[in-house]
Amino acid sequence: MKRRKLIIDTDPGVDDAFAIITALSSSQFEVKGITTVAGNKSLEYVTVNAMKLIRLMRADCKVYPGSIASLKDLESATGELKDAGNTHGSDGLGDVDLSFDEATRSDTHAVDFIIDTVRQNPGKVEILAIGPVTNIALAIRKEPEVMKTVKTIWSMGGGVHRGNMTPVSEFNYWFDPEAVEVMYGIGTDVDIYMFGLDVTYNTFFTMNDLFFLRQEGGEIGRIMYDMTLAYAGSYWSNRRITGAVIHDLVPIIYAIDPGISKPEDVYRSALTVCCEPGLTQGQTIVDLVDRFNFTKNAYVVMNADSRRFKELFIEIVFGDVVDLYRKFVRS
Ligand code: BDR
Ligand code: CA
Repeated sequence: MKRRKLIIDTDPGVDDAFAIITALSSSQFEVKGITTVAGNKSLEYVTVNAMKLIRLMRADCKVYPGSIASLKDLESATGELKDAGNTHGSDGLGDVDLSFDEATRSDTHAVDFIIDTVRQNPGKVEILAIGPVTNIALAIRKEPEVMKTVKTIWSMGGGVHRGNMTPVSEFNYWFDPEAVEVMYGIGTDVDIYMFGLDVTYNTFFTMNDLFFLRQEGGEIGRIMYDMTLAYAGSYWSNRRITGAVIHDLVPIIYAIDPGISKPEDVYRSALTVCCEPGLTQGQTIVDLVDRFNFTKNAYVVMNADSRRFKELFIEIVFGDVVDLYRKFVRS
């Protein structure tokens, strides 16, 4: 089988780790490289975390460090460097003890790696965008015509009816709204799928699900369970949810099997993002039902079959133990 070419643009991140592990386990994808961006933690932390995941999975690809801050913060000399605090543990990966191989860090900048890979494979490269989209925006600004030949961008961010940074804004899009605007600017040429908080909250992992990974997932399952504990702790403290929303896993599972969502849950829509500082920074404004006749530049995925989503993840990463999950685990 000819494998699909994938770049993972990411800020790992516990939920990023689930997505990366899944992409590296799937026979559908050839992961061309992992590009990193400041977001959940500073660029150095997330780059090291990506290298740790490559080593854990014994993957044959490199990490390409990218942007240290959002477009706006990169432009202002005094820009503060934001991150997600300790939501993902103090190192961004749940403080689990993992080693990495320095040789997997490339000297090539993420933006150049993205452009070169797309240029060499026009119409063929898919990008899994699970952090702030700063690298993607910089690549579009530098080489717009090349970037218009990206096949698909699978983007975790935004939300139609929900927020997690403010009541209406999600973290990735809040972090760099100007970059989001640039990205959806090529949404008439490239298929860009938005997986916002509406769909991700409908697929959350219960403690039963996480416990199953620990019991039946071997070494990788135990590590995933351990790295998720602090992250799950923040869901309990902030929202009284027992479990965790593994946001970044949703786009990669959908990319593998779009059948997890019903066709009527995927909207071809016009999408804009609010860039002004304040409560609405990063808010996505989506004309779901085409009421206002704006130019459509996004596919917005609003729901997914949670059970099928989790079964697929377990099957891809852990294989046959999915039968045990199907039979015995009630989410
Ligand atoms: C997004 O923000 C990050 O903290 C997660 O990794 C995810 O990409 C969810 O809002
Ligand atoms: Ca992320």
